[in-house]
Amino acid sequence: MWPVECIEHKRDGNILTKIEIDRFIQDYTNGTIADYQAAAWLMAVFLRGMNARETTDLTMAMAHSGDLVDLSSIPGIKVDKHSTGGIADTTTLIVAPLVAAAGVPVAKMSGRGLGFTGGTVDKLESIPGFHIELSEQQFLRQVRSIGIAVIGQSAEIAAADKLLYALRDATGTVESMPLIASSIMSKKIAAGADAIVLDVKYGDGAFMKTKENARRLAHTMVEIGTLAGRPTRAVVTSMEAPLGTAIGNSLEIDEAVEALAGKGGRRLMEVVSAIGAQMLIVGGKAADEAEGRKKIEELVRSGRGLAKFAEFVKAQGGSTAWIGKRPLTKASQVFTAVCTDVGCITEIHGRALGDIAMSMGAGRARKEDAIDPMVGIRLFKELYDEVRPGEPLFTIYGKADADMTAIAQKIAGHIIVTPSQAAQMEPVVSEMIF
Ligand code: URA
Ligand code: CA
Repeated sequence: MWPVECIEHKRDGNILTKIEIDRFIQDYTNGTIADYQAAAWLMAVFLRGMNARETTDLTMAMAHSGDLVDLSSIPGIKVDKHSTGGIADTTTLIVAPLVAAAGVPVAKMSGRGLGFTGGTVDKLESIPGFHIELSEQQFLRQVRSIGIAVIGQSAEIAAADKLLYALRDATGTVESMPLIASSIMSKKIAAGADAIVLDVKYGDGAFMKTKENARRLAHTMVEIGTLAGRPTRAVVTSMEAPLGTAIGNSLEIDEAVEALAGKGGRRLMEVVSAIGAQMLIVGGKAADEAEGRKKIEELVRSGRGLAKFAEFVKAQGGSTAWIGKRPLTKASQVFTAVCTDVGCITEIHGRALGDIAMSMGAGRARKEDAIDPMVGIRLFKELYDEVRPGEPLFTIYGKADADMTAIAQKIAGHIIVTPSQAAQMEPVVSEMIF
């Protein structure tokens, strides 16, 4: 009897047909299948797994369970970029205008997000006047005219995923490769891009704790995208330490603008170059990685990426007078801490710094929380940098009532200086998968 037979099939280790998967997702989305049945099915999938074909069928069923964004009125190959989430990760804000300047259209829907800082949309909203709520017509028109638009998620993308994700959270079934991969890819496919570049992160500050699991997730998602006819590539990157130096919404806009002006940090620019190159390749604007990286460098050096960023901000109503002239961030209290040791920075605990930034007001613990766009942490050093006593180590931007010395003390405990060089320097980009 349906749907019990479908649960039993998976429970007993069988491979589900496309018909079974489509029907299960449809019936769950429209309420014919109860939560307890879907929960049992999720646990069966968690324990028995799914092959690539089942995972792709599940992805497509979830993608079709909500609205599908139609980008076909925009000429060219539309490329989307997705990160599995990390700390001080401004890659999207940098790479989107760079590839748009090279002629790859970027039509991006972005979330607000829970966690250490807001999502890309919250960061952009720290720019005075910037609005992220465009109608679908305005959104498409802007991409056709200037090659880039970023809006908040208004359409109901992958309705089934939203329901299933909440159920997984409550039933111990989040950490399953086919469930994670189909959850992410269903949203990317419904958002309408022709090709997808994924930044799959591992480490202390990432969803995937180990490099091996990040690689497996990357391979699974690349396989789904390919089977779904959306060329997909993945870059596996380290989140053992923050990627850039800014943790906070307006601070991350400041860091992105500096990076576009050629002053980006080593680790951040390595990821920008790797991802940008892959986006140019799938977007038909570079033949290989070497050419892609060279183009990205040129777009930074010539200022064309920064000019595209300013054009994009202006098109969405944001003020641009500050760009390239002064920082956007203005907080009630500003405090800079200096280094007391000599040596090499061998650890920066990103997750802990993210938690501190969140407690200062930069992120949301619950969906309804408000964020303060101007607060956060800016580091002057990155992982593996050498430091000397008296050099500035970080600046904190706090609300009027923040206890700045206490916060500074907490932060200092998460930046570890070792008298000698790091024993082993881990590269930030470890692999490209396609
Ligand atoms: N992010 C998602 O969107 N889905 C998952 O299942 C895990 C992380
Ligand atoms: Ca670590």
